[in-house]
Parts: sequence; C-alpha cells; structure tokens
Amino acid sequence: MKVLVVGGGGREHAICWKLAQSPKVTELFCAPGNAGIAQVAKCVNVKATDVDGMVQWARDNAMDFVVVAPDDPLALGMVDALEAAGIPAFGPRANAAIIEASKAFSKELMKKYHIPTAKYETFTQLDKALAYIEEQGAPIVVKADGLALGKGVVVASTVEDAKTAAREMMEDKKFGESGSTVVIEECMTGPEITVLAFADGEHVRPMISSQDHKRAFDGNQGPNTGGMGAIAPPPQYTPEVAKRCVEEIFQPTVAALKAEGRPFHGVVYFGLMLTPDGPKVVEYNARFGDPECQAVLSLLDGDLMDIFTACREGTLDKADFSWKEQAACCLVLASGGYPLDYKKGCPISGLEEAGKSAVVFHAGTAEKNGQIVTNGGRVLGVTALGDTLEHAIANAYAAAKPISFQDMHFRTDIGHAF
Ligand code: AMP
Ligand code: GLY
Repeated sequence: MKVLVVGGGGREHAICWKLAQSPKVTELFCAPGNAGIAQVAKCVNVKATDVDGMVQWARDNAMDFVVVAPDDPLALGMVDALEAAGIPAFGPRANAAIIEASKAFSKELMKKYHIPTAKYETFTQLDKALAYIEEQGAPIVVKADGLALGKGVVVASTVEDAKTAAREMMEDKKFGESGSTVVIEECMTGPEITVLAFADGEHVRPMISSQDHKRAFDGNQGPNTGGMGAIAPPPQYTPEVAKRCVEEIFQPTVAALKAEGRPFHGVVYFGLMLTPDGPKVVEYNARFGDPECQAVLSLLDGDLMDIFTACREGTLDKADFSWKEQAACCLVLASGGYPLDYKKGCPISGLEEAGKSAVVFHAGTAEKNGQIVTNGGRVLGVTALGDTLEHAIANAYAAAKPISFQDMHFRTDIGHAF
C-alpha cells in the first residue's frame, strides 16, 4: 500500500516509524514531515491544513490510504474530502471531530449521555457570563469554545481573574471567533491522565494509558505548552480506575457519537481527571496526543496499518494487538523560550549517539546544508523503554545526554511531577 501521513511533528514521526514496520506499507509519504520523518518516509511539500492541495496530491500520486493526524485538518473536513474523492482515510469526519473543535458541543454531549465531567454553563453574552462567575465563586475555569492551540483555558483562582479571562475572550476577542462562545465550569482536582483509544464507529479499544506534562517548567510551573514529556503507563491509572473509565466514559462516548449520527472512526483522546468523586472528562480530542503518542506507540505490539484499517471498516473488535509489559518515557527537548519566542535554525549535535539507546522522534527539525537544525518550539522527543517506569525515565534522560543545540530546554522531572 502507498500511504500518506498528514502532519509534521513528533506525533507524526512516531506514526510513520510504526507504519514503516508494517509489511503492508510498501511506500510511505508524509506532508509536510520534518528532517527525522524524512529518514522513514518521503516528505511532501503540502501544508497540513491545505485540504484541496492534499486531496489533489493524494489523487495524483495514487495513495491507497491517508492518515490525518493533526486537529486542524480533521476539523476542516480533510477526511470527508478524501473519502469524497474515493481515497480511504484514517481519522474522524468533521461531524465527529467536533468533539475537539467545539467544547460547547462536547460538554452538551456529555450532559445528554450522563458522561462524568465538570458542571458547566455555556455563554454567548458577557454580562451573563460575569454574573455566573460571581454566583459560582472561585476557583473556576473559563474556556474559549473553539480550537485555540491549547491556550484558550484559564483556571482562575479568584473571581476577578475569571472575569478578566471572560472579558478578554468575549469582548477583546483574544482568541478570535473561538472566544465568542465561552464555557465556564467547575474546577476539578486530582491527577490528570490521558487515555487514547481506537474507535471504529461502534467498538472502542483503549491504548495503554499515558500522562503528559503540559507546563513549561519543573514542578508544573510556567506557561502551558503542547506537552514537555509523556510517560506510559502512569501508576495512578489502576485496573479499578480503568474499569470505571471503560464503563462510564469510553464506551458511552463512542455510543453517544453513534447515536447522534456522528460515528467516530479514529483515535479519541480522553483527557481525564481522577477526582475524589471518580474519573471525569477534562477534554476530548479527536486524534493522538503529542507527546503521548510517542510513548504509547513505542509500547504497541501489532501492525498499526491493520489497526487503522480496522478502525475504518468497523472490525476493531477483531484486530490483533497488545501492549508490551514495559513502560515508556518520551522526554521533549525544546527551544529556549518556547512556548513564546524562540530561535530557529540552530544546529543539533549528538543525534546519532542518542539514537543508539532510544528512539529520537523529531518534532521541529529541518535539514540545512546536510545538517539537522532546530525548526520549532518542541524540537525532539527522546523516547526510551524500561522494565519499570523508573527505568524508562532514567533511560530517556541518559539517552538525551549527548544531544545539544543552542538554548536547549527540557524539564528534569518528567514522570515525577504528579
Ligand atoms: P483543556 O484544553 O480543556 O484540556 O484544558 C487545559 C488544561 O486546563 C487541562 O489540562 C487542565 O489542567 C486544566 N483544566 C481544564 N478544565 C479544568 C477543570 N474543569 N478543572 C480543573 N482544571 C481544568
Ligand atoms: N499533549 C496534549 C495534546 O496533544 O493535546
């Protein structure tokens, strides 16, 4: 099969790395890809959000299958467009990807189908939002409805901060139109866990659990980022918790989407909080998480191409795959200054040495005159396995030692922060 993966970050590198191991995949392409992905796939110069351009390229080059990995093209209906052109694609259609694209939609869905989540109200009028904040008191959480690159959420510890956040979103349009509708919800407490799950419209099969580290600095300080590191599986996700999640959250969510005429084929990202009242949904995403994907796929025993096909065809219940009895750690090496301003184009050294004891997934890299250089905020994800979580963490840090580039920044507490 000729397969195209859409995207160009660490997550897409991990997907390409795993797909390249499938005997069914004879030719692998990635658009736009990056310097690391270029080692396992041919990179194609089409932007991930260019729906028409992607369909055209896939058609012109006779792709047998396209994997749409990032949130934006899913929300834009890239899977719908590929299918309309007769090209099989992995990922939810736009009407199911809406669980990520609209927080108001997903909160509504959870309320209707009694899926545990924080209590909330949705507002389109600022004065009503301010009155609700006043009435509920702090701490309280204010969220822009649409995709805001993970930045449209404010966990406010005072009523004043919450009101300021609502004003910025609704009046000053800090997040553009995605803030014209705002969700205000109860503040939950407890460890945060990610469970990615394959879904085929009807069946749902959770992957091994994982945990991201979203803040930029040690001790969960500093601004939110796309994710500074991930472990799998986190110790808090016990078999008892897992059972509740399957019964109270995963199966009801996929069944709810089917009942609504929005069957979900792809990966559901369950962002969960293990609260004193039990597991609750913080957010849904309609795709693999990044960097959770790098840790989780490293533990997959099975053919990813077969799983993707099963998700499309509704045969996931029969797909043959399992998870290694090991743990994984993905340590993100970022550009100094990320998630704000940072330099690009800095030469990276030590990659070959690091690659001897870990898999180094590239997130933001490019090749310039035969040299691999930085080309994004998150640059690399050094991913190692171990027989225990402690070993996996130690292996990832040890493997990353030889790598350096100007202003390199990483957290030193991945796996020990919660
Ligand atoms: P989201 O984009 O909805 O995942 O929110 C980003 C982050 O904000 C989450 O990873 C949580 O750490 C935090 N958060 C979101 N909603 C809540 C909530 N209801 N209670 C406490 N923290 C929350
Ligand atoms: N790691 C968080 C996300 O992919 O949304």
